[in-house]
Amino acid sequence: MFIILLLAAAFTLSAAQNVTLLREQLARQNITALFPNDAGYAAASLAYNLRFTVNPIAIAYPINVDQISDVVKAGADQRLRVVARSGGHSYIANGLGGKNGSLVVDLSQMTNIVVDPVTNNAIIEPGNRLGDIALVLNEVGRGLPHGRCTYIGLGGHSGFGGWGFPSRMWGLTLDNILSATVVLANGDIVTASEDSNPELYWGIRGSSSSFGIVASIEFRTHPVPPQATAFQYLWEMDIPTASNAFIEFQSWVLSGLLPIEFGGELIMLKGSAYGQIELGFFGDYFGSWDSFNDTVNPYLSQLPTPESTNITQGSWIEILAATAVGNLNTTTQPDASDTFYAKSLMAPEDVPLTNASMVALVTYLAEVGFNNSDDWDVEVEIYGGQGSVINQVPLDATAFAHRDTLFTFQPKASSANLLPPFPSSSFGFLDGLVSSLTSNMPSDWNWGAYPNYIDDELPDWQERYYGVHYERLQQLKSSVDPQDTFHFPTSIQEL
Ligand SMILES: Cc1cc2nc3c(=O)[nH]c(=O)nc-3n(C[C@H](O)[C@H](O)[C@H](O)COP(=O)(O)OP(=O)(O)OC[C@H]3O[C@@H](n4cnc5c(N)ncnc54)[C@H](O)[C@@H]3O)c2cc1C
Ligand SMILES: *[C@@H]1O[C@H](CO)[C@@H](O)[C@H](O)[C@H]1NC(C)=O
Ligand SMILES: *[C@@H]1O[C@H](CO)[C@@H](O)[C@H](O)[C@H]1NC(C)=O
Ligand SMILES: *[C@@H]1O[C@H](CO)[C@@H](O)[C@H](O)[C@H]1NC(C)=O
Ligand SMILES: *[C@@H]1O[C@H](CO)[C@@H](O)[C@H](O)[C@H]1NC(C)=O
Ligand SMILES: *[C@@H]1O[C@H](CO)[C@@H](O)[C@H](O)[C@H]1NC(C)=O
Ligand SMILES: *[C@@H]1O[C@H](CO)[C@@H](O)[C@H](O)[C@H]1NC(C)=O
Ligand SMILES: *[C@@H]1O[C@H](CO)[C@@H](O)[C@H](O)[C@H]1NC(C)=O
Ligand SMILES: *[C@@H]1O[C@H](CO)[C@@H](O)[C@H](O)[C@H]1NC(C)=O
Repeated sequence: MFIILLLAAAFTLSAAQNVTLLREQLARQNITALFPNDAGYAAASLAYNLRFTVNPIAIAYPINVDQISDVVKAGADQRLRVVARSGGHSYIANGLGGKNGSLVVDLSQMTNIVVDPVTNNAIIEPGNRLGDIALVLNEVGRGLPHGRCTYIGLGGHSGFGGWGFPSRMWGLTLDNILSATVVLANGDIVTASEDSNPELYWGIRGSSSSFGIVASIEFRTHPVPPQATAFQYLWEMDIPTASNAFIEFQSWVLSGLLPIEFGGELIMLKGSAYGQIELGFFGDYFGSWDSFNDTVNPYLSQLPTPESTNITQGSWIEILAATAVGNLNTTTQPDASDTFYAKSLMAPEDVPLTNASMVALVTYLAEVGFNNSDDWDVEVEIYGGQGSVINQVPLDATAFAHRDTLFTFQPKASSANLLPPFPSSSFGFLDGLVSSLTSNMPSDWNWGAYPNYIDDELPDWQERYYGVHYERLQQLKSSVDPQDTFHFPTSIQEL
């Protein structure tokens, strides 16, 4: 009986879809939209990661929150899957729905930024890219923490985290959200803040897209630091030297010697010979120029002299520009694309990495990695260390589930020319890379994964991304989106 009812429901779902009607409804409301046979649709439905081909039923371009609401209602009426796209940089094309046939609400027309001159709070629309936000805020001497890839959209970045070099001093992007205007699945336009819809406010800071479309966000901003330094050191190392450099790196981050103004990462790249890797250490320091050497020397003094050193000192915005991937002003050049697979591993601070796991990773990269023909790298991003503001936020204050993170690893492999096809052997290569760490840690080691480095091959993603918060997210999902309108491959499942 139950099965028959389910089949009947599934039949009603597909029978209800009427593309002609959708086109008419959007046109009547003056909402620009592209459908499969329209000029421009093919370009508009290209994913950033060309490993994915996704054909939405339509891509709509609302210009304000009322139009977002109209699109959501039109989609929900026909039981379509509806998704938001801001910068389109999802690793698995979730901004296009991740599956064929979704209705995409593209927010690229919504790029207002208004800074209140009294409170310095900024109301920023989600279609803005990170580089442009940094430029506009800097004009009034303010800044936000976020990643350095300038073309990332605010909507996705702030919905799931938002880590960058300023994050140890200012937190993740989402930690600075004071309130947001959200369009729910029934078209309602609501405010999410501590005082208004507090559970929704909790959920949009860590897993936003399962609950609604965020139409604008109010942020607390920070005065920009007067001086900043960008640094980059590179070495070619054999396995014992690189293992030691990694072990000393963890000791240094755990030592309590790093001021919160320090942000950085190690990067591990293919070496020039079997049994070697290239190691980079780079980042930004937002303390005074004069104090930079004393800050990095405790670590550098444990290592051989770098083969290349590049230190740049300047203002906040000069240093953001120096470290950026892409121009800060994103209107000057089109966005790029890639064909890649990436994974993530968030290592908890309370159970540091064993020497064996660090040696195993370096050995794997220097041997298996050297033999692998793809373009790969592993980033080891500093989240923790004494005083890090990321880890000062109480675990249950937001839906972000990893407030005890020492490092976030991002192993990534791209096809050699960055175009399809993606070599299927690289999935196994990256799985083995992660195993080299986890298999040398206690079996109950509670590692997490970062939902902004979203991985379509992670079997236990609910637990890895959301940990103890998953069930609470499911409750919220059931209450605000009972029809599962905001559905995509890694959306929160209803209870
Ligand atoms: C080259 C590159 C470098 C990166 N570097 C960093 C980094 O340094 N630090 C870091 O933290 N991350 C980094 N990322 C990851 C990045 O933060 C995520 O991919 C992010 O989700 C992209 O946001 P977007 O708006 O561009 O993507 P989209 O594809 O538009 O959206 C991503 C997800 O968010 C949802 N979404 C988008 N807008 C909204 C909205 N307004 N309301 C509700 N849901 C929405 C989408 O539906 C989708 O599920 C990087 C990514 C790339 C490609
Ligand atoms: C789809 O909608 C159009 C326009 O409203 C209508 O003319 C048509 O009959 C509908 N088709 C179906 C199968 O319901
Ligand atoms: C759509 O645009 C037309 C022409 O500009 C205008 O008359 C009409 O009121 C608009 N409709 C809506 C819903 O905004
Ligand atoms: C969408 O459809 C196209 C064409 O049939 C197909 O190549 C592609 O793999 C589909 N995408 C997904 C995510 O299933
Ligand atoms: C980016 O450059 C364009 C063209 O020079 C300019 O109009 C725009 O204001 C710039 N944007 C920002 C955020 O500075
Ligand atoms: C910092 O160290 C570099 C090289 O190690 C040196 O050139 C520079 O003068 C030092 N700066 C200060 C302020 O001591
Ligand atoms: C040093 O770094 C700066 C800023 O990242 C960059 O502009 C410059 O080209 C680099 N110099 C060298 C020699 O790599
Ligand atoms: C880990 O390696 C470091 C550096 O080689 C060494 O000083 C330390 O004693 C090792 N720790 C353990 C537990 O073996
Ligand atoms: C790498 O390739 C070489 C040459 O084919 C081979 O001897 C070696 O065993 C390979 N190493 C690994 C770890 O696969």
